[in-house]
Amino acid sequence: MKVLLLGSGGREHAMAWALSKSPRLTKLWAAPGSEGMGDLAERCALDALDPRAVRAFCAEKGVELLVVGPEAPLAAGVADAVRAAGIPVFGPGQAGARLESSKTFAKDFMLRHKMPTARAHAGGAAEALAAVREFNGRCAVKADGLAAGKGVIVCTTLPEAEAAVATLAATRAGGTLLVEELLTGPEISMMALLDGKTYALLPASQDHKRLLDGDLGPNTGGMGASCPVPLDAALLARIRAEVFDRALKGLAAEGLDYRGVLYAGLMLTPEGPKILEFNARLGDPEAQAVLPLLDADFLELSLDCARGELGLERVPARAGACVSVVIAAEGYPETPTPGAALTPEAADGLKDVLVFHAGTKKDGSRWIAAGGRVLSVVGLGADLAAARERAYLAVSRVAGPGLRWRKDVAAKILGRRIVA
Ligand code: AMP
Ligand code: GLY
Repeated sequence: MKVLLLGSGGREHAMAWALSKSPRLTKLWAAPGSEGMGDLAERCALDALDPRAVRAFCAEKGVELLVVGPEAPLAAGVADAVRAAGIPVFGPGQAGARLESSKTFAKDFMLRHKMPTARAHAGGAAEALAAVREFNGRCAVKADGLAAGKGVIVCTTLPEAEAAVATLAATRAGGTLLVEELLTGPEISMMALLDGKTYALLPASQDHKRLLDGDLGPNTGGMGASCPVPLDAALLARIRAEVFDRALKGLAAEGLDYRGVLYAGLMLTPEGPKILEFNARLGDPEAQAVLPLLDADFLELSLDCARGELGLERVPARAGACVSVVIAAEGYPETPTPGAALTPEAADGLKDVLVFHAGTKKDGSRWIAAGGRVLSVVGLGADLAAARERAYLAVSRVAGPGLRWRKDVAAKILGRRIVA
C-alpha cells in the first residue's frame, strides 16, 4: 500500500516508524518529512497546507492512504480535498478539526453536548477582563486560534490574569479570548481513533507541558510523555461515557463525519474528569510514547479509520511502559537558539531506546538543532521506572551544551511520585 504522511515533527517520525513496521506498506512518502526520518520515507517537495497540491500528488502517485500528522493541514481542509477524490484519509475534515482550531467552537461543542468542562466566557479584551474579575484571577486565559500549545496562560491572582489578557490581546490583536475558571488535579491525555461511527481508545498517557522540572515555567508544546497511566475501571467508564460517547454522538448530530484521532486533554478534578482541550490529531510528544506500545498494525488502524471499518473498542497495547523525553533548544519556547550539536547516533544499538527527530538538520556529517523541540528520546521497559531509566541513559549520550530537557519526565504518575 502506498501512503503519504504529512508533517515533519517528532510525532511524524514516530508515525513513519510505526507505519513502516506494517507488512502492507509498499511505499511511504513524507511531506515535508525530515532529514531525521532517514530512509523510513521518501521526502517530497509538496506544500502540505495546500489541499489542491496534496490531492494532485496523491492522484499522480497512486497514493492509497493519506495520514495527516499535525493540525495545520487539517485546519486548511487538506483531508476534505483528498477524501473528495475518493482516497481514504486518516484525519478529520476542516469542520471537525475546528474542535482544535477554535477553542471557542470546542467549548460551545462541549456545552451543547453536555460534556464536563470548565465554566468559561469568550470575547474581546474587555469581556476577558470582566471574566478574569469574575473568577477573581483564578483562571486560564486562552487565545482562540491554533498556537502550538503556547496560547494559554494559567493565573492564580488578579494582576497576573489582567496581565495575561493584555499579553494575549496584544499578540493577537482583535482575536477572541477565552477565559476559563481554574481547575485543579492531575492531567492526562486520552486519545481515541474514530472511524465516523465508533471509536477505540488508545492507552492513556501523560504529557509534561511546562518547560521546567516540577511543572514550573511557561507552557510549551510538551516536554515529555509517559504511557500508560493506570486508570481504575470506574474512571475509565466515566471518561468513555461523559467524554467520548458524547463527542461521538455530538459529531453525528452535527453531521460531522470525523475519521482520525480525537485527543482529549483531561484534568482529573475532585468532581471528576473535565475536558481542557480537544485536538484533532495525535499529541506530540504523546505519540512517541504511545505508538511504540501498540500491539496492532498502525497502518491497518489508520486505514480502518479512514474507511469507517474500525470495529474495536480499545486499541491493543503491549505490557510494559514507554517514556519520551523532549530535548529542546535553549531559549525554547520563546526564541530557540539554533545550532547546538547532537549525537543521535550515540543511541544506535541501545536496547529499548528509540530516537525521533523533530527540529534537527545535518551540518556536514553532524546533526545540529534547527528548531524549538529538537528530538524525542524514547525508552521502553517493564514499568515506567525502567522505561524512564532507558530514556535518560540515551538522553545523556545524545544531548549536550545548548540544549535543555526536563529531568523529571515520568517521575510522577497522576501526581504521585514514583521515583526519588
Ligand atoms: P490547553 O491548550 O487548553 O490544553 O491548555 C494548556 C495547559 O494549560 C493545560 O494542559 C493545563 O495545564 C493548563 N490549563 C488549561 N486550562 C486550564 C484550566 N481551566 N484550569 C487549569 N489549568 C488549565
Ligand atoms: N502535547 C500536547 C499536544 O500535542 O497538544
